[in-house]
Amino acid sequence: MPQELYSGYGSVARLGPVVRKARPECVFLVFDKGAFAKSGAERAADRALDGIRRVGFSDYVVNPRIEDITRGVELLRTEDCDMVIGVGGGSAMDTAKSVSLLAVQDSEPVAIVRGGIEPRPRQATLVMVPTTAGTGSESTHFSVVYIGAEKYSLAHPSMLADTVILDPALTESMPPYLAACTGMDAVCQAIESWWSVNSTAESREYSRQSLALGIPNLEKAVADPDRGARECMLLASNLAGRAINIARTTVAHAVSYPITSLFGVPHGHAVALTLPWFFEFNDRVDDDSVQDRRGVEHVRLVLSEILEALGVGSAREARRLIVDLARRIGLAANLSDVGIGRDDIDAIVRHGLSPHRAENNPRRVSAEDLREILERISDGADLDG
Ligand SMILES: [Fe+2]
Repeated sequence: MPQELYSGYGSVARLGPVVRKARPECVFLVFDKGAFAKSGAERAADRALDGIRRVGFSDYVVNPRIEDITRGVELLRTEDCDMVIGVGGGSAMDTAKSVSLLAVQDSEPVAIVRGGIEPRPRQATLVMVPTTAGTGSESTHFSVVYIGAEKYSLAHPSMLADTVILDPALTESMPPYLAACTGMDAVCQAIESWWSVNSTAESREYSRQSLALGIPNLEKAVADPDRGARECMLLASNLAGRAINIARTTVAHAVSYPITSLFGVPHGHAVALTLPWFFEFNDRVDDDSVQDRRGVEHVRLVLSEILEALGVGSAREARRLIVDLARRIGLAANLSDVGIGRDDIDAIVRHGLSPHRAENNPRRVSAEDLREILERISDGADLDG
């Protein structure tokens, strides 16, 4: 079934008809505590769910842990809900997706998340309403779950939502730093999926469209947002989500997970720290280091397409463009500014590359390669060279 999608200012009014059409017995509503009221989503949900039994769930942390997900699964089962609506940022939508899948399994959530057991498809109707722009979680069939400090990806085709509502008005209450982090996540996802070893003609087209909207609008959407910039960023985020739904992310995302889980750096900011440096790294691909089965020539072609989309002539210029953009929107570009010292690099390398985390990257990444990049962006480094 293709995903049903409504977009544009005012589109959240579609939530009522979407719910009534599904005729649920009980709606399980996953929402971010802070953003729910501020974004206007609460008012929209109250209107849409008037007269329908609902159970709210916001008892999870940002970057949800298995304990949070398990609590949600138990609540959904107890209340016997047959529709799940995720309203919020990536954590709300990922939680909604995880809970809807894990609620119908015989095995414990933790066993499914660790892998090795084939899950059965979700049964509840699944609706996604993002209030950030964004992670693109509304257009992917996987979610992030942390077990301790370790990041797992829970994936199943049935985790793709039935209906998505992209109303830019719901993103208007994002504070600038959140808009910067989530917007940069979208840009990085578009770039990583574009050079991923799993890219297809379709995913690359989504990446291209996402960057065409995201690059010119991100700074305005953070510093001086208007309706146009908000709308473009929400679409850029959705398109980047579609791109990673096919091609997944690569090394910058892999390295970001320990930066987030060990040092508390928000996801988009953590990704933005290293992504720019992989332009020059991937540009040095050769027959020995290539991981894409389509070969070195294919990787070079793809990299040149990305540079063209960014309007730059070299990998170095691409790196500088993204570093400058990150700094202009208030994202510190070196490790010391986010509280990470040189002594911490070992832990990031250890968790960032194992096991097989960087295998979607077009060029093989060794621990030494990664250490070199992390040292380059550590205290006192020259980011403009
Ligand atoms: Fe991401």
